[in-house]
Amino acid sequence: MSMYVNLHPIKSFVRHYPALKRLGSSLAFVFDIDGVLVRGKRALPAAKRALAILDGNNRFGIKIPYILLTNGGGVSEATRCNELSEQLGIQIKSEQYIQAHTVVRSVVHRYKDTPVLVLGGRGDTLRKVAEGYGFRQVYNTLDVLAWNPSVWPFHDLTIEERISTKTADFSKIPIGAIFVFHDPRNWALDIQVMCDVLRSGGVIGAPPYVSECARKPVDLVFCNPDLVWKSEFDLPRFGQGGFKEAFQAVFKALTGTIYPYTQMGKPTELTYRFSEAVLRHNPESDIAGANAAGWKSILVHTGVYNPRQGPPKHKPTHEAEDVEEAVLWALERELQS
Ligand code: G3P
Ligand code: MG
Repeated sequence: MSMYVNLHPIKSFVRHYPALKRLGSSLAFVFDIDGVLVRGKRALPAAKRALAILDGNNRFGIKIPYILLTNGGGVSEATRCNELSEQLGIQIKSEQYIQAHTVVRSVVHRYKDTPVLVLGGRGDTLRKVAEGYGFRQVYNTLDVLAWNPSVWPFHDLTIEERISTKTADFSKIPIGAIFVFHDPRNWALDIQVMCDVLRSGGVIGAPPYVSECARKPVDLVFCNPDLVWKSEFDLPRFGQGGFKEAFQAVFKALTGTIYPYTQMGKPTELTYRFSEAVLRHNPESDIAGANAAGWKSILVHTGVYNPRQGPPKHKPTHEAEDVEEAVLWALERELQS
């Protein structure tokens, strides 16, 4: 699903695209990734053609700006941009790429010196990403398991996992916030540790709080709400939203309530405003978010949405077979003299 916005009257942005200015337009595109540009590790053929069109291969002979906005993540922005540049055969720069946890940059200042738990991804990859955002005390659930294997007796750390862990005594560390950056690899371990942290007010192994009001709230942030997403497998796969549902079901069975949390990622306004700020300087969830942000939206048929299953839940500005058809339609609509 690709979206595009007309960024009238953003003078600062347009100066980078003088040809666009001459046409009196400040069109820009925001592309979803999974199901639109790639399927798993494979670039969709229409994606390369669509980006080539925006890179100047169009009848107007001009370059048109675009950014990539994904609920994916799990590695640093630079690493993913290198992968995408390889897959798409065109250089994707970090300043034109936003992934689910990039938006966390906008709240790091609140947790600079707070011990935080970062979930998802492989080994300690996301610890390094979080430290790159500015967090100073970053732990993950593998660190907890290395500290005390009886926290979750059903998983033995692999050699690779053990090497990635940071030594810490969690009986002395009051975790102040949990950030679920990307799809957890071990749902069971992560749900156990999350419940230990959230029920005790931060210290793993401390008894659960008896009454709700006594609880010192530990902040909980999920970066991607997607229940399912489109990867290589023919049918959509569970995403971070599935993990959130599983966690909340267990937490509710334990305490009778779900745990309050902050949701980031498309379609949240936070993520769309963050993207617009980048622009200025750059299905469902996508269409809903774009519509709410006042952007024009195009729904393509290569992602989760299948037109044979009836009309889409959120009405897009236009529907297209694939991203190339989407880009050509938008250019004609926005730039035709
Ligand atoms: O894990 C990624 C998935 O939830 C969707 O990614 O690129 O379609 O926003 P994307
Ligand atoms: Mg997608």
